[in-house]
This record gives sequence, structure tokens and C-alpha cells, in this order.
Amino acid sequence: MIDWSLLFLLILHPALICVAETPISILGHWSGGFQGQACIPITKELDGWKAHILFSEDVDSLDIWVAVATKISPREYLIENTQYKTQEHVGDRLCFTFIGHGLGDIVPTASVYVEGMDEPVGLNTTHVPTGPTTSPGPTHALHPVRKNYTDALGKSILFYEAQRSGKLPANNRVPWRGDSALNDCVPGGWYDAGDHVKFGLPMASTTTVLLWSILKFKDGYVQSGQLNNAMDQVKWTLDYFLKGWNPQTKQLVAQVGDGRADHSYWGRPEDMTMPRPCQFINETINGSDIAAETAAALAAGSIAFKENGDAAYSTQLLTAAESLYSFAKTHRGVFKGSATYYSSRDEKDELCMATLWLYRATHNTQYLHDAYDYVEDLWAWALSWDDKKVACQLILYEETHDDRFSKAVVGFMQAWLDGINYTPCGLAWRDMWGANRYAANSAFVALLSAEAGINPSQYRKWAVEQMNYILGDNKHDGGCYSFQIGYGDKYPLQPHHRAASCPDRPANCSFAQLNAPGPSPHVLIGAIVGGPEYNDNYHDLRSDYILNEVATDYNSGFQGALAAIVHLQMTNNFPVTNNKCPCMV
Ligand SMILES: *[C@@H]1O[C@H](CO)[C@@H](O)[C@H](O)[C@H]1NC(C)=O
Ligand SMILES: *[C@@H]1O[C@H](CO)[C@@H](O)[C@H](O)[C@H]1NC(C)=O
Ligand SMILES: *[C@@H]1O[C@H](CO)[C@@H](O)[C@H](O)[C@H]1NC(C)=O
Ligand SMILES: *[C@@H]1O[C@H](CO)[C@@H](O)[C@H](O)[C@H]1NC(C)=O
Ligand SMILES: *[C@@H]1O[C@H](CO)[C@@H](O)[C@H](O)[C@H]1NC(C)=O
Repeated sequence: MIDWSLLFLLILHPALICVAETPISILGHWSGGFQGQACIPITKELDGWKAHILFSEDVDSLDIWVAVATKISPREYLIENTQYKTQEHVGDRLCFTFIGHGLGDIVPTASVYVEGMDEPVGLNTTHVPTGPTTSPGPTHALHPVRKNYTDALGKSILFYEAQRSGKLPANNRVPWRGDSALNDCVPGGWYDAGDHVKFGLPMASTTTVLLWSILKFKDGYVQSGQLNNAMDQVKWTLDYFLKGWNPQTKQLVAQVGDGRADHSYWGRPEDMTMPRPCQFINETINGSDIAAETAAALAAGSIAFKENGDAAYSTQLLTAAESLYSFAKTHRGVFKGSATYYSSRDEKDELCMATLWLYRATHNTQYLHDAYDYVEDLWAWALSWDDKKVACQLILYEETHDDRFSKAVVGFMQAWLDGINYTPCGLAWRDMWGANRYAANSAFVALLSAEAGINPSQYRKWAVEQMNYILGDNKHDGGCYSFQIGYGDKYPLQPHHRAASCPDRPANCSFAQLNAPGPSPHVLIGAIVGGPEYNDNYHDLRSDYILNEVATDYNSGFQGALAAIVHLQMTNNFPVTNNKCPCMV
């Protein structure tokens, strides 16, 4: 990790100030990068400008905040004004801060010139006591707001705490939530979304994705001060899965609550009185999709708890994972319960996930062999609660380095980069239902793929841009609008979420609150809402469950991508991004 307490200098060579192309020395450098700030006196009126920075050594990428950087060659970068700041007047100084990334501890020399500005260009000496998460040095130009990814990460975890069903722990951090659904056949787990059903498939898929991020980007969680909260987050559902699986009777809980009865109630989970029927999977009722995904979550959980010092719990999780997978493998067929709302199209992807996490937990190659029976080469439409094809391909690539699987991942990413619609402000827009969620899940896949060495610079740039859109690089409500509730200054106030919409007791809560104007009384901190339409339009309206629903699966890839981005910042691999509608200050 970089020691950001160092100061980095760019120095001016006074003898060279009177040439149009000014060489500079960079004294501040570290393994993988260097940093500095250039200030060029403006000697000619400019409406739009292009500067060229020339390096003596290859520079892989350049981070710059006030302008747009394009790599012309490894040794030449074109720096252009943003659309928000085109005019430069004689007497101004054009300043920009940059971080260059390269291989090893390079110390390039650099020079800069501005196209069409014939007068000599000077570069000034500037101390730059900044790291990638702090703002650049003084400048008169507008610059994109740096996102606080650690803040968004901590808030995402808080959203899951608002979704908790059952008896809440003494350290509950969501003051407007209390104990609820204590008489469920299996208490605990998460309410799925703005409603109060506990659906097995999205709950298990979400837990697996969250665990994947904890295992892969633990440093991101540690850096954000969130590792313990994240372990509590997944333990909440892992406990529920352990209680819900009986290896003797071979019975697993698949769903608690009836979708129709639940959806005809608008109120607090703490006040529910309707029957909450239980649906099980067993030797006569199929559900290998849910059983396998639950086994995947349990197996991934066993690795995480082993690594984080709870060996006994880890063993318990692994034992349950193995018996559950064995049951799923021998009792095939997707769950077709009543009012499930989350019917899986296919179970092969879930079975594949179970085998791969079991292989990672046990190193038993039988599981890897089984994975080959389930993996498909098809390019998934998205990573979702239903479709884990790309996750299976990516993990198999990580384990085997077989090109067959990296090709499938590249195909998936190619579709996302080039084959789908983008909103004018640049969100990769897959579907009107939860557009943010699909983009964030793909961002997570992109960041994992980059980590596995698949097109790292391209995928990182794309992924961070998608996340930046969700966190504010869009034009809704004048721009800088976060689709994550509680992040920044502007965010959704009317999520389609029953509990948050209810005033404090003893006030009643009913369907009147669904249509009540004004902000929900409680801020559902950390949740991302469905997201915009194809044209960036969005309505912060509680009754609009298409654009304004929240859900546990919506936040899963989003949270994983945040941990990955914090990891990139820590390892100095944060990409140069170029969002179309940046939030400027
Ligand atoms: C360099 O910066 C200093 C302090 O900001 C300023 O006083 C000086 O005029 C600058 N020189 C040039 C050549 O811009
Ligand atoms: C980012 O958010 C965290 C958590 O809320 C906070 O402690 C930190 O000061 C923030 N960082 C910046 C640079 O604002
Ligand atoms: C499976 O569950 C159903 C519904 O709870 C029950 O009627 C059936 O007896 C169970 N089958 C087995 C083999 O346990
Ligand atoms: C359960 O799955 C088996 C095997 O896939 C299938 O033959 C059977 O029809 C399924 N049962 C039900 C009730 O869907
Ligand atoms: C809640 O609603 C019931 C039935 O409509 C009513 O009798 C009661 O007074 C209400 N309570 C409050 C606090 O408004």
C-alpha cells in the first residue's frame, strides 16, 4: 500500500521555462506510480484547449480530475478541457493534478505543451499532499467530485440491517426497526425488498455475492472499517440457512410468507398479523436451484469464517453445505412454489456455484469435476439472483486458467460494453426493472475479471464509471443525484419500502403511506433504488415500484463493486474515468 503521508513534488527547471515544450522532473514516486500538479500560465485566449504530456517512460494510465485524459501512446497523454470549463483567459493559470500509474517504481521525466498556444509554457512547482481519495490542489477549474466509496460501502451494509427479520440483536443500528415475525417457521433472515416475504433464492444469491466480495476484496472492507459489520451482515442469513436446513429429514425452507397476502398489506413488519405460511423443499418437492445456491452461500461462508477466526462456525457451515449440495445433486428440479415471484429458469448455474465454493472450501477435486457438468459457455444476459452463468465461468477461469472460461467472460463483458443500450449519461441500461442493479452487478463482474487479469484497465474504467453514475454522475435533479439513499446531498426520499414509509408509533401505518406525499419518515440508508429509464428519466415516487423499489439483491453486486474500488484505490490501480455527466464542483 502507498504511504500517502509522503509529499510529492513536481519541480520547475527555471532554465527551461522559455520553451514551448517544458521538461520537468518528478521527484515523488513509489512502486507503481507518481503524482504531481502542473500549472501552466495562459498566454492566449482559449475557448477549449488540448495539452499534451510527454513522458520519458511508459505510463499505463493517468488519473486526472479537472480535465479529460486520453492515452495517445504509453508515453503521450492528451489532456482536454471538460465541457463545463472551456474558457481560459490570458493571465489565468491552467492547473491540473495527476497521478500516473506504471510498472514498478518508475521515475519518468515529463513535459507539457498546449496546442496552439505559441507563447512559452511554464510549469510551476507545487506541493501535492494528496492521495487518490482527497481533492486535488487549488485550481480555478471545475472538477468532478471524488466519490467516497468507503462511505457508500458502509451505508450499503446498513441497508441490510434494515431488512432483518426476527429478533434483532442488542447492537441493532436501525432505530426505527424492532423484532418482527418471531413466529415464522424459521425466524431470522432478510425481508426481500420493500415487502416482507423471505424468498430463498434471492436471499441465498445475495449472500453468496456478498461473501465473494468479502473473500476477494477483504482489504476494501478493512480499509472502510467495515469488515466486522460485513461479517455480521452475512452471518445473519447464514444462521437462517443453518436453521432452515435439516439434513436428517432432508428439508430446507424455501420461502416464508405468502406473496399475495404480503402485498395486500402496507405497514410495519413489526405489526404484521397475517399468516406467514412456510414452503419447504424436500424429497418430494423439487428445489435444487434454491438448495444449491444455499449450499454455495454456506460453503463460501465457511471459508470467510475460517479466515476470520471462527473455526467452529466455519465447520458447521461446511458440514451443512456438503449435505445440502448432495441433496440438491440427487433431487433435481427447480422450485415451483406458490407466489414465489423468484422462479429460477434453470438450476445448472446454482449447482455450479455450489460445487465451486465447495471446491474452494474443501479442495476436493470431485467438486471441480462436478462443476464441469454444470458450467455453460453461453453469455449470460446479466448476473442476477437467477443467472450465475458468468460467475461460474469466472470462478472456473480463476481455478483452471482455461481459456474456454475467460472467453465466455469476455463475451459477457463485450455485450455489456458494446452490445446494450446506454442512457445519455452513460448507464449501461439492461432493463427497466432495477437498471442500477444490473449495471452494478456487471461492474462487480468487471472488477473481478480485471483482478483475474482479463482486460483490467478497460474493465476497471468501465466499472468505476457505472458506479459513479449511480453515485451521482448523472443529470437527475440538476445532477449529482445519488441513487443510493443517504449518500451525498441528493438521493431518493420515497423508496418503495413499507417500513421506511411508516411514521413512528403509535401513528397508524397503512396504504395511505404508500401514496403519502413527501419524504418517507425514515431514511433507508444505503439502499440503491431501481434506477432510471432508458433516457435517464427517473421519478422519486413511492408508488413507482419499477423505478423506486429497493431489494437485497439490488445492493449485492453494488456493495461488492464498492469493496473492489476501495481495493483499487489502496493498490493504486484506480482507473482514469470519463463519466458523461460528472458531478462537478
Ligand atoms: C509559481 O507559484 C507561485 C506561488 O503560487 C507564484 O507566486 C508564482 O508566480 C508562480 N510562477 C509561475 C511562473 O507561474
Ligand atoms: C468518507 O466517508 C467516511 C465514512 O463516512 C468518512 O469517515 C470519511 O471522512 C469520508 N472521506 C472523505 C474524504 O470525505
Ligand atoms: C415435503 O413437504 C411437504 C409440505 O410440507 C409435505 O407434505 C411432505 O410430506 C414432505 N415430504 C417429505 C418426504 O418429507
Ligand atoms: C421434480 O423434478 C423431476 C426431475 O427433474 C421431475 O421429473 C418432476 O416432474 C418434478 N416434480 C414436480 C412436482 O415438478
Ligand atoms: C389507528 O386507526 C384506528 C382504526 O382506524 C383508529 O381507531 C385509531 O385511533 C388510530 N390510531 C392512531 C394513533 O391514529
